[in-house]
Amino acid sequence: MTHPTQRLRADDAGLTSAAQLLQEGALVAFPTETVYGLGADARQGEAVAAIYEAKGRPSFNPLIVHVADVSTAQKYVKWPALAARLAAAFWPGPLTLVLPLRAGHDLSPLVTAGLSTVGIRIPAHPVAKALLRKFGGPVAAPSANPSGRISPTTADHVIAGLEGRIAAVVDGGPCGVGLESTIIGFDSENTVLLRAGGLPSEQIEELVGHALTRSDESKITAPGQMLSHYAPRGAVRLNATSAQPNEHMLGFGEIEGDLTLSASGNLVEAAANLFGHLHRLDALGGPIAVAPIPMEGLGHAINDRLNRAAAPRN
Ligand code: TXA
Ligand code: MG
Repeated sequence: MTHPTQRLRADDAGLTSAAQLLQEGALVAFPTETVYGLGADARQGEAVAAIYEAKGRPSFNPLIVHVADVSTAQKYVKWPALAARLAAAFWPGPLTLVLPLRAGHDLSPLVTAGLSTVGIRIPAHPVAKALLRKFGGPVAAPSANPSGRISPTTADHVIAGLEGRIAAVVDGGPCGVGLESTIIGFDSENTVLLRAGGLPSEQIEELVGHALTRSDESKITAPGQMLSHYAPRGAVRLNATSAQPNEHMLGFGEIEGDLTLSASGNLVEAAANLFGHLHRLDALGGPIAVAPIPMEGLGHAINDRLNRAAAPRN
């Protein structure tokens, strides 16, 4: 993938092109008030997989879903009273709420890394708002930088890091906040600070009327460790070339399974299918055998996730 990255203006024509590209499953970086986000249609698994590929992320961290308004957010998540108060006070703005997904949502499981919760926010930047309204759907967006590099606060930063790896960047000038959003989760009656960020935690504490629980004191694990939460019920055997009689097989490439991640050996397609296929095989019951996945491109992240699924449990 070495098409030049288009630099789009933040005017009506530029935003129309950006929304069109998102619809086509392409990656578009756009300004938010915190940092530039690397956006993809959160319902298209291959588009979401392409985010990880473009960033060179070695693992699937859950991504934040950006929406235009509260009624769109309510389509995707359950809405406890405290979340409604936080949203009323601080949205649009640099606040992400981690909330339980509603049944029947159409988000790709890759967005949530297979979790039953999702981080969601309404950004305040006028360009982000205009793009989300024009697109009319949920946009998954991590910061628009290569993995391990500094978050971008200008379109030039985005181009410097991701030129040729994404379809376009909407140039909306420098970001005002320059720090990622504050992430809040809910652990029974506690409000948990999962990541300090652009919205000062004192402001949140003032509104909720109690001190925030830090994520290390909570049952909600810190974001980097979240992935170990989901493991299939049955044992997982990796690098299998065929299934034992009691196993269900997850295939890849020439090794055909009960379900196959990508018959053509395409790692983007495989990543898009990974969590959904694991859930479906797990629902059948019994151990799961997994074909070898090459350690190249998205194969690193896929193998990272599979190694966690196969790790011994207690
Ligand atoms: O300001 C921001 O939040 C920027 C802009 C683009 O909106 N986005 C951003 O996304 O910082 P990202 O992917 O770099 O950070 C997402 C963070 C990760 O630490 C992830 O683990 C956490 O959100 N997260 C997302 N969903 C979660 C969930 N269901 N449970 C716990 N943590 C979650
Ligand atoms: Mg980031």
